[in-house]
Amino acid sequence: MSKTLTPEDQTLIFRAARSHNGWTDEPVSDELLLQVMELASAGPTAFNQQPMRVIFVRSPDAKERLRPCVMGGNLDKTMAAPATAILCFDRGFWKHMEEAAPSFDAAKMYGKDDDMARHSALQNGTLQAGYFILAARALGLDCGPMTGFYKDKIEEAFLPDHPEWEANILVNLGHGDDAALRPQRPRHSTDFTSQIL
Ligand SMILES: Cc1cc2nc3c(=O)[nH]c(=O)nc-3n(C[C@H](O)[C@H](O)[C@H](O)COP(=O)(O)O)c2cc1C
Repeated sequence: MSKTLTPEDQTLIFRAARSHNGWTDEPVSDELLLQVMELASAGPTAFNQQPMRVIFVRSPDAKERLRPCVMGGNLDKTMAAPATAILCFDRGFWKHMEEAAPSFDAAKMYGKDDDMARHSALQNGTLQAGYFILAARALGLDCGPMTGFYKDKIEEAFLPDHPEWEANILVNLGHGDDAALRPQRPRHSTDFTSQIL
């Protein structure tokens, strides 16, 4: 059995997958959103710390709550998307690692150093955001990642019960309308971005 993705699958997840600005009316089910979470959770994090937390904004009420939190150029496409995921990271991740890393004294490493805990949560939570996007694409969803939002407003509107979570990246989810895509910009060459010593 082949241990690589087919070229078609590689293209599905990377080359042909775009950052979408328009959406069809096709809805996205709860089941599919949870499948994305389950698949993304398989990606590695330091000490298995898994600091990403996600709030899916889907109902009309929740979308209205999101409206004032999104910057102008991102507003229409966010309101039109079937779902918007608020990808957060939990600075207090180390309090929830007993099952995930039973032999590791997370409190000793992170509990006395807030800067270290935040740095690690941001680093690993952002890694998990990448896994989230690839998982969504692997499951047939299109994504529109965005950092054009008001972090303080998102946290006030959606995270009042989670004082240790910070909003990191928003991702619109659904089935993209290709007609609304912008021309794709080139990626740097591997000669520019890498050295093999
Ligand atoms: C972390 C992140 C933040 C982004 N923020 C925005 C944003 O606020 N607004 C927007 O229109 N696009 C945003 N983008 C989309 C990028 O501009 C886009 O992914 C990039 O130009 C590559 O385009 P492509 O995926 O269609 O090839 C963001 C992408 C990422 C990964």
